[in-house]
Amino acid sequence: MDKKVSVIGAGNVGATIAQRLVEKELCDVALIDIIEGLPQGKALDLSEAAPIEKHDAHLSGSNSYEASAESDIIIITAGIPRKPGMSRDDLISTNAGIVKTVTQQAAELSPKAILIIVSNPLDAMCQVAYEASGFPRNRVMGMAGVLDSARLKAFIAMELNVSVENIHAFVLGGHGDSMVPLPRYSTVAGIPITELLSKERIDAIIDRTKAGGAEIGGLLKTGSAFYAPASAAVEMAESILKDKKKILPCAAYLEGEYGIRDLFIGVPVKLGKNGIEEIVQISLTDDEKEALQKSADAVAELKSLLKK
Ligand code: NAI
Ligand code: 2OP
Repeated sequence: MDKKVSVIGAGNVGATIAQRLVEKELCDVALIDIIEGLPQGKALDLSEAAPIEKHDAHLSGSNSYEASAESDIIIITAGIPRKPGMSRDDLISTNAGIVKTVTQQAAELSPKAILIIVSNPLDAMCQVAYEASGFPRNRVMGMAGVLDSARLKAFIAMELNVSVENIHAFVLGGHGDSMVPLPRYSTVAGIPITELLSKERIDAIIDRTKAGGAEIGGLLKTGSAFYAPASAAVEMAESILKDKKKILPCAAYLEGEYGIRDLFIGVPVKLGKNGIEEIVQISLTDDEKEALQKSADAVAELKSLLKK
């Protein structure tokens, strides 16, 4: 393939991203992890599936960053999930250390790459990667809004018993309890859901969307969601690799857009070969603006923990 994507962290999300990327024949993939044998084993296993899946994308697995050199995109999924007894501050400082180190190593060998951050807490980890890479803001973004919007779309489709392909929906804001689903911009075949569902049902769907990550984590018990998160990261990568210029909700560094400054938060952006090619500013009602500001305040609080 003439494009290369490195996926740092060969765990559940990272390996599934690698699988989707090669099965769509979007690029060659370098899978990197700190655990010896893990990225090598998963890359080899996926390569052995290639004759059946019928793709010619090349996969490599390594514990060394040399394998990631000259990537077009670097997707960072390295980190640890929150464990019992661990505070949010503990998780932030542990993952901030991991994301900082992996970003520095990967960015040095791929100075023109576009970074897609997946590791949690998402908006704060974008900030870490932005500072550690020194890349311009159009080349650093976080995956969360595409996932949260996909969950909202799935729940609307289940509620109305219609094709998921008929549904458009947006979730903005930080990747946490304060996320901002926008029913006004959520449609089924162009019809706003506010005309198809009662306020009570919309509120229930929004609550389920906000708790989407916790719902899967509660079911799995030993880990968190990875199929939908991987699909979401791959949709972003595909728009960049093919220069599709899709408008997708992604964590972007705002410099005054939406009245928010010096913070990564989920907003609609246009994704093309240059990364974030535009931050799309949609009109929001006073209530929606207030909810987005509240979400920005929560992300700013997370960001402040990074400096401790
Ligand atoms: P996982 O535990 O299956 O995989 C994480 C991998 O990172 C492990 O293989 C681990 O060895 C590796 N790793 C740890 N430190 C490393 C280092 N210094 N260098 C290279 N690799 C390193 O976890 P999973 O389920 O894949 O999730 C990964 C991250 O993505 C977590 O932080 C999770 O919370 C986050 N996540 C974010 C989502 C979002 O919407 N932004 C959605 C789902 C997960
Ligand atoms: C999710 O939303 C855990 O952030 C992860 O599934």
